[in-house]
Amino acid sequence: MLLARDFSTGKQVYEAACTACHGPDGKGMPKTTVGFDAPPTFPDFTRCDQTTPETNTAWKAIIHEGGRFRGFSEIMPAFGDALTDRQIDMVIEYLRGFCQSNSWPRGELNLPRALITEKAYPENEAVITTTVNARGAPGVATDIVHEQRFGVKNEFEVLVPIDFVHNDRNWNGGFGDAALGLKRELFSNLRSGSIFSVQGEVGFPTGNRSKGLGSGVTTFETFAAYDQLLPGRSFLQFQAGTELPVDTSIASRAVYWRTAFGKSFSQSGGLGRLWSPMVEFLADRDLADGAQTNWDVLPQMQVTLSKRQHIRADFGVRFPVNNTTGRPVQLLFYLLWDWQDGKLSAGW
Ligand code: HEC
Repeated sequence: MLLARDFSTGKQVYEAACTACHGPDGKGMPKTTVGFDAPPTFPDFTRCDQTTPETNTAWKAIIHEGGRFRGFSEIMPAFGDALTDRQIDMVIEYLRGFCQSNSWPRGELNLPRALITEKAYPENEAVITTTVNARGAPGVATDIVHEQRFGVKNEFEVLVPIDFVHNDRNWNGGFGDAALGLKRELFSNLRSGSIFSVQGEVGFPTGNRSKGLGSGVTTFETFAAYDQLLPGRSFLQFQAGTELPVDTSIASRAVYWRTAFGKSFSQSGGLGRLWSPMVEFLADRDLADGAQTNWDVLPQMQVTLSKRQHIRADFGVRFPVNNTTGRPVQLLFYLLWDWQDGKLSAGW
């Protein structure tokens, strides 16, 4: 029999240390053989939809430190003492081979979500973002977004805003303009660290315009998003789009472009809690004669809250850079839940 230190391929490691529970085919051994009830998140490594969103780092953390470390079942043992770092990397490469298709965008390209700039990766997540005017006209806006993947490269999203605005003397509150969106990834490559997507959206005039809660007009929006991984866990995200209201006598057409630059730092030797400071540069311009481009900057910090890293928060302050009259400084905050990775109560 080979000793653990002699394993020189991922296959050898897998067959000796993992098949007892995960099965020779990566689908998991039957309960009668393993003697435990598989947790609902127990992986079937042949299911690309389940495995490709997970990063190698997340897997490394679980294999090195055991399931508990990332809020998973303690049945998944820690191999940090038995296997070398290189052997763990090799067995991860071997696990990747169970998914037979390489058209799925890899989770490494799923960059930390910025407060405003939309990312290119199609996601399964729910996000609640609150914006508070810190200076200028009082107002509080809460956007609830549900994003859901379907097929290999697509995502469907629903946005419901709840707004409170202060008009002269009193506060008005209610639904703003709800929107439906469809995203499709067109290109992604883990080696070059890049991913490109397009999205189409329709905004419906569900808000009460006379109370300042909506635009009063159906609006079509399209954008392209391009994200790029950079060395040292830093990254860039670009988004450019147009807003086209069907009736331009009510609202004007506009274009926008957004950039987010950031870098991630993680605790526990690269495997633990993730901190991602970012700064966004935001520009928009009405497509009307004499309109000016508004520029904002938005420094922020995203942090993972749960051990599983499926619940995250981000906090930032948006400062208008030019044309500052009538454009408030805003505090922004979101809570994000990657619901494919488990319930809100799981993974702590
Ligand atoms: C004693 C049984 C057992 C052994 C042996 C075992 N695992 Fe696991 N593993 C589990 C269980 C159970 C889970 C599911 C944990 C959960 O979802 O709460 C799991 C989860 C995982 C995950 C997380 C997958 C995901 O995306 O959720 C990875 C990666 C993994 N195991 C890799 C390995 C590797 C590699 C080996 C061998 C070096 C190994 N496991 C050996 C039981 C085992």
